[in-house]
Amino acid sequence: MTMTGSRMRLRLDSARAAARPERVGVVTSIVGLGVEVSGVRAAIGDLISIGDDPRIDAEVVATTREGLRCMPLGRLTGVNVGAPARSSGAPLLVPTGGGLLGRVLDGLGRPIDGKGPLDIDTMVPLHNETPSAMHRARIDTALQLGVRALDTLTTVGKGQRLGLFAGSGVGKSSLLSMIARGTDAQVSVIALVGERGREVREFLEDDLGPEGLARSIVVVSTSDEPALMRMRAAFVATRIAESFRDAGADVMLMMDSLTRVAMAQREIGLSVGEPPATRGYPPSTFSVLAQLLERAGTGRTGSVTGVYTVLVDGDDHNEPIADSARSILDGHVVLDRKLAIVGHFPSIDVLGSISRVASRVNPPERTALANFLRTVLAARASAKDLLDVGAYQPGTNPLVDAAVDHDGAINSFLRQRMDDQTPAAESWDRLSRLVALPGMRGGH
Ligand SMILES: Nc1ncnc2c1ncn2[C@@H]1O[C@H](COP(=O)(O)OP(=O)(O)OP(=O)(O)O)[C@@H](O)[C@H]1O
Ligand SMILES: [Mg+2]
Repeated sequence: MTMTGSRMRLRLDSARAAARPERVGVVTSIVGLGVEVSGVRAAIGDLISIGDDPRIDAEVVATTREGLRCMPLGRLTGVNVGAPARSSGAPLLVPTGGGLLGRVLDGLGRPIDGKGPLDIDTMVPLHNETPSAMHRARIDTALQLGVRALDTLTTVGKGQRLGLFAGSGVGKSSLLSMIARGTDAQVSVIALVGERGREVREFLEDDLGPEGLARSIVVVSTSDEPALMRMRAAFVATRIAESFRDAGADVMLMMDSLTRVAMAQREIGLSVGEPPATRGYPPSTFSVLAQLLERAGTGRTGSVTGVYTVLVDGDDHNEPIADSARSILDGHVVLDRKLAIVGHFPSIDVLGSISRVASRVNPPERTALANFLRTVLAARASAKDLLDVGAYQPGTNPLVDAAVDHDGAINSFLRQRMDDQTPAAESWDRLSRLVALPGMRGGH
């Protein structure tokens, strides 16, 4: 559709909306996060605006004979019983199109970067169907992330969904920003959900930088915003990623963090009266996570590769959100606090990380190279106690000997500065040179 055609349609839509007689209802109660409204008709998911000045958006979450139950998308301070409520007659619409590149949006898809109005192709409803399993293309092509340890040892395929699991402060966000700059995906959509405001600016200015931002779209909802807004940010980012995928692009969708999305859903669920289940998370948390993660993946054309950070509370990897994410995702990268403490970044625990599609997207000779290095790392790990106390006898295990002899070379391959992006082809070259060092193949 041409730009002018779509603009005209937008204008027509708004003219039609303006011609519709507006019915104004009233707020009848405000308790916790719930706002009840009567005197106006709307369907589940429709947007309602509450109050006059300022108008606060709210979403219909339940309807009864008595009226509507809504959840605010802004702060309710100053809103009273009797305040007017107006229905937009439509669910949340999400902007799409190339004009979004380089822009920073809020959880409802509105610009917050001070760069003026968005140049929008079309608006699409937030809700979208997950492509049916039979219509999804198979994951068969590798996607470059620009991080040596990931591209070679946990190779990601276009359309894969990967989790980055770690405790707090172990380097999740930093690794995500390395990927944002190093990936060869055509478009990156980055959702920052529940982060502190300060971190958002640091991420945009220091980590992503102007070149990174130019081929990205960033959706932000900080920790101080209402739970529903934080939840919407995750779905708005996903919907924008899908719109580029459906136009045939390979999209990288990054979400920091999935745990905070789950926490937002916990707040929402509890406030509408759901019972708390596993560690205070109501059952809807797990179904919403599944819905969100299922939306990434391949379509008929194009792909959305999802990378989600998961906070592992107190480094407990069996925490319910981490557990449920791990079962839905098709790969997980574990970051290790012990590595971060000694300044080994990215702090990837290679042996604890796995990509379920790696052997499918890599030719056998590359899989073999990665397996050789893994074997050497496993040997080093199994002899760690002996090595630490100096009790290891050289010559006992050729793989451990190789790990000791080439410790420096192995670490300089695995370590990578944040401002260093390595193309995947170069990482594979380096790995094959590393594996060719004397003794590395352990007698193979
Ligand atoms: N590649 C790297 N090179 C050097 N330092 C790094 C690297 N990655 C992370 N760090 C250091 O680790 C610190 C914490 O990283 P980061 O903020 O990414 O962790 P996080 O897991 O996202 O934390 P949080 O749980 O608070 O969100 C950074 O401030 C930085 O000093
Ligand atoms: Mg972080």
